[in-house]
Amino acid sequence: MRIGVVKEAAAGETRVAATPATVRQLQGLGYDVTVEPGAGERSSFTDAAYAEAGAEVGEALGADIVFGVNALTADQLDELNKGATVVGILGPRTNPELVEDLASRPITALSLDAAPRISRAQSLDVLSSMANIAGYRAVVEAAHEFGRFFTGQVTAAGKVPPAKVLVCGAGVAGLAAIGTAVSLGAVVRATDPRPEVADQVKSLGGEYLSIEDPDAEVSATGYAKEMGDDYKAREAQLYADQTQDVDIIITTALIPGRPAPRLITADMVATMRSGSVIVDMAASNGGNVEGSVAGEVVTTDGGVTIIGYTDLAGRLPAQASQLYGTNLVNLMKLLTPGKDGQLTLDEDDVVQRSILVARDGESRWPPPPVEVSAAPAPAKEAPPPEPEPEKQPLTPGRRLAGVLGAAVVLFVLLAFSPEALTVHLTVFALAIVIGYYVIRNVHHALHTPLMSVTNAISGIIVVGALLQIGQHDTVITGISFAAILLASINVFGGFAVTRRMLSMFTRS
Ligand code: NAI
Repeated sequence: MRIGVVKEAAAGETRVAATPATVRQLQGLGYDVTVEPGAGERSSFTDAAYAEAGAEVGEALGADIVFGVNALTADQLDELNKGATVVGILGPRTNPELVEDLASRPITALSLDAAPRISRAQSLDVLSSMANIAGYRAVVEAAHEFGRFFTGQVTAAGKVPPAKVLVCGAGVAGLAAIGTAVSLGAVVRATDPRPEVADQVKSLGGEYLSIEDPDAEVSATGYAKEMGDDYKAREAQLYADQTQDVDIIITTALIPGRPAPRLITADMVATMRSGSVIVDMAASNGGNVEGSVAGEVVTTDGGVTIIGYTDLAGRLPAQASQLYGTNLVNLMKLLTPGKDGQLTLDEDDVVQRSILVARDGESRWPPPPVEVSAAPAPAKEAPPPEPEPEKQPLTPGRRLAGVLGAAVVLFVLLAFSPEALTVHLTVFALAIVIGYYVIRNVHHALHTPLMSVTNAISGIIVVGALLQIGQHDTVITGISFAAILLASINVFGGFAVTRRMLSMFTRS
């Protein structure tokens, strides 16, 4: 089958659905590839580079499978062959007219942005790959507008404090923004109603600002839910405090299926220092910040710049095209199990069913809901443990009787045993007591090294066996040889195990 890669029709779209590198990978799956002339121009991929990668440069809409970034226009759809498959970011959730149009044509439409957020679909999750780029770019845009360093410095001309950055929403875009701002040297704080992100924020070098919520629970879907009034009041107080302190705010808050929550009001913006910058990544969903305008940069009377760009990923076109192209290659791997250039669609597969919008003149939208779980499933209620039989504490009388009994047994033993045995028994009893107290006070993690050292004490056996091995008695020589062998394995094996264990704690 042939894959056609179109030149994007949307004004301002800089991305392309395949790069020379992904063209090679598609050919490896058995497909021929045709790229429309100039398709990669805005992301710095020339026609010559595609031709060198083995693609044909020519008309793409006549192919069996047509790749685009955005949905094709009605004119482009008219040119498709009967039975063709179109793949792109179609936005079926927010575009019912397009779904209807696609379902009225004898084609199959797959929308990559509808892939479920489950581990198996991660490699083709275009929303994550684009949000990751957008989060990075949001910080770059903020740094561009901000008239100061991000990092703190001590110079001959004076001390420069680091910029303070607040990231609202620690999803894919938020985490990318946190990592980028930290790497530029800023002090970064982050909020999110899902308590499970606290560790992720910390691991990137940020500080998680928790909003005390008695009802907070680990998200069962990986997404936030609409929060209650009490939470919203506390959240508003936190943002009111933070806006007076931070220099940069990046908002990424999103609740699926709802307009973006309003986090930062105009009054809060007014309390920010002049020169501060806000990037509202949710501007196209209604905005997290009052006063942001989708696609534009506005400056308030108080000198605060609010960036509402909706094309942040497209502002790194070569990178965005490469990651999107790789998402498409991963999709084709799923749809081409035989690696024979033949697309097979399996509607029983949850990932393929989720992205299927229309098939051969019939709508397949919406797909059945998919259980998305970022949190471990709640454990089944375990049966109550069997009550342990209660131990009766020894009465003082019984304890005294026990000690006296043991003393009598020991006395009898010592009275009737040879003198040498008495000495050995005493050493043995003392060894037990000392060994017990030494091992009891050593941490469990260090038991292996401790054992190997104590093992080495058994090396004394080697000395004894060496003294005996020279005897002209085959039995004694044999036993001595076995003793040397076993004791050596014990000593050197113990040290080898310890070395291996300690190397696990050594930084490479
Ligand atoms: P996501 O669903 O992974 O993350 C959204 C985060 O917001 C979640 O962690 C959620 O818990 C959090 N959140 C929800 N309510 C909140 C609240 N009241 N306060 C703080 N956090 C809250 O989404 P993803 O993929 O990270 O995208 C984030 C946003 O960035 C979306 O609005 C998306 O449309 C936008 N985006 C914008 C781009 C642009 O060019 N401007 C490009 C890519 C994404």
